[in-house]
Amino acid sequence: MTDKIRVLISEEDVNKKISEIAALINRDYEGKAVHLICILKGGVFFTCELAKRITVPVSLDFMSVSSYGSGTESSGVVKIIKDLDEPLEGKHVLIVEDIIDSGRTLAYLIEILQKRNPADIRLCTLLDKPERRVKKQVRVDYTCFTIPDEFVVGYGLDYDQKYRNLPYIGVVEQ
Ligand code: IMP
Ligand code: MG
Repeated sequence: MTDKIRVLISEEDVNKKISEIAALINRDYEGKAVHLICILKGGVFFTCELAKRITVPVSLDFMSVSSYGSGTESSGVVKIIKDLDEPLEGKHVLIVEDIIDSGRTLAYLIEILQKRNPADIRLCTLLDKPERRVKKQVRVDYTCFTIPDEFVVGYGLDYDQKYRNLPYIGVVEQ
């Protein structure tokens, strides 16, 4: 059975916003190189589109984490499934995420990555659901869209591993 998906943010609007966020990054990192850390799998589409629009020197690395939890709640205890290939020492790190929900995953991840002595760590997310935030200390530097508390798919985000490839952001209708 195929689910009915309502478009929440069109492909055109997503791409336009990514260009605007990339322009801010280009301004803020002028004269520096930015080290993008893509959080797999959800962050992969956004990372590619963002990286293509960044004009300062870019390096890329990937990390895959799983958050233990019951049901739809993440616990904040993060298991590293795939660690980074490169050291972070002295680098201007920009973490690229698909969505920040409770913030538990990111709070834990930032703590781990800080210990690797980067020059600085900033956070960039495609979507933010601030209503759901539990970890208030997670400061997001670049947000493409703030959305209400709805379960969304597309542009990297999945429902049971499906719909990551949708070129827009949608809501699965019940
Ligand atoms: P948290 O911020 O630790 O609660 O977890 C964030 C993670 O939960 C994201 O990286 C997504 O993998 C997943 N997630 C949260 N909300 C959604 C959603 O609306 N659709 C798909 N995945 C979601
Ligand atoms: Mg994710």
